[in-house]
Amino acid sequence: MSETEHSDGNSSTRKQVVAGTGKAMKSRLKDKWILITGASSGFGAAAARLFAGHEAKLLLGARRIDRLKKVAAEARKAGAREAHCHKLDVSQTSSVKAFVEWARTKTSQVDVLINNAGGALGADTVAEGKDEDWETMLQTNVLGVLRMTRAVLPLIPPRRRQLHYQYGLFRRAHGL
Ligand SMILES: NC(=O)c1ccc[n+]([C@@H]2O[C@H](COP(=O)([O-])OP(=O)(O)OC[C@H]3O[C@@H](n4cnc5c(N)ncnc54)[C@H](OP(=O)(O)O)[C@@H]3O)[C@@H](O)[C@H]2O)c1
Repeated sequence: MSETEHSDGNSSTRKQVVAGTGKAMKSRLKDKWILITGASSGFGAAAARLFAGHEAKLLLGARRIDRLKKVAAEARKAGAREAHCHKLDVSQTSSVKAFVEWARTKTSQVDVLINNAGGALGADTVAEGKDEDWETMLQTNVLGVLRMTRAVLPLIPPRRRQLHYQYGLFRRAHGL
């Protein structure tokens, strides 16, 4: 099996090809619902484009809705079976609840949750660190992951429970 990339200048899709046949293989992610937080830029937007190339169905969240809409449009162009977006602030429990209620209007099942929203604020030493930066990072990078995971878990079938947490760290999370 090999992987090829097709590009039309604006977007690209990846297809796995069965060796020697040139025939495209169906991706395991085809038609799977993938929820990505922090999808308006950076890794989150890149993940949306990548999974679009696997013909997945995407639920995208972040605070900047204009950017999210663009990423959703690019994802549809790149092959996503569906790509929807909605405002999400993972530092607010009420926003997380509203987002998941909206997600439930699109699907009753989420196959993959990618807790990507967050960032690093300030490059100060601890001696010069600011409470404001620490509090924002904890609210987003730590509590945001817990809030999202708690809210989305009921939509993830128990046998599929895998937690993707920022920057490629992956762990199986049976029994979460
Ligand atoms: N780049 C690196 O080298 C690196 C290294 C280690 C870890 N990481 C982690 O990887 C993740 C993505 O990083 P990146 O480099 O792609 O950063 P980025 O381009 O700044 O993207 C961060 C994303 O998170 C969203 N976000 C931030 N706060 C949010 C909130 N309260 N609620 C919802 N969405 C929020 C942003 O969207 P909105 O502003 O539109 O809400 C944006 O889509 C971050 O969690 C970061 O900490 C990155």
